[in-house]
Amino acid sequence: MTEANDVTDVTASGGPGALRVLVLAGSSREGSVNARLAALVAGQVERSGAVADLARIRDFEMPAYDGDVEAGEGPPPGAADLRERLIAAQALVIASPEYNASVPGVLKNAIDWVSRFRPQPFKDKQTLLASASPSMVGGNRGLWALRIPLEHLGARVYPDMFSLAMAHSAFREDGGLADEGLRERLAATVDSFLALAEADTRYLCLQRRWYEFLGDESSAPVTQRAED
Ligand code: FNR
Repeated sequence: MTEANDVTDVTASGGPGALRVLVLAGSSREGSVNARLAALVAGQVERSGAVADLARIRDFEMPAYDGDVEAGEGPPPGAADLRERLIAAQALVIASPEYNASVPGVLKNAIDWVSRFRPQPFKDKQTLLASASPSMVGGNRGLWALRIPLEHLGARVYPDMFSLAMAHSAFREDGGLADEGLRERLAATVDSFLALAEADTRYLCLQRRWYEFLGDESSAPVTQRAED
């Protein structure tokens, strides 16, 4: 079993044609436990032979969404940058805090802005959700809330999620997880997700169309919110 333990230099890249994964920490805070978790995920991505593009939500500055601003000036540069990073990646991992049992406003705001681009870049994106919190449930409720806009936008959100409980005491000084069982679980979750993302990205015969309900045609107006 590989160990999601090291804080890896994620500037190292995989081989030619390697899967590229945007790993986004949903907290802007210096010392964020979610940023630390994102760094561990990025390390595991690199160990698996893929390329990790590690980012923080604060890298993408955007005002609160306003339809008049969009109509007058278009999406802000931060939203355009996030869109580019998303397009460049075949898979997405978000490590996000839970705020009041839901999605942090700054992350939801970024999703809202980026969803305005066409083609809509979340559509069909293989996505893994993770969270860290000082609480006993590790911010997991926030991930269920985060699923809603992402699945609405056609992202293929991986069924398993990783939530790190008691996160303020879960890390060793070197940045790795103190608990061996959790290290193994994080590594296994990331590896399984990457195997699916790889298959979905590489093997066209496995690609499925996004259906909102049985019998729906993806070109029907009802699904255009997830379309290009
Ligand atoms: C929190 N926090 C929190 N934690 C939790 O487990 N469930 C919750 O509902 C909330 N709600 C909440 C709301 C707001 C506005 C703040 C600022 C914080 C605590 C949160 O998990 C803790 O501050 C984490 O350390 C935040 O993640 P980062 O910034 O360390 O990644």
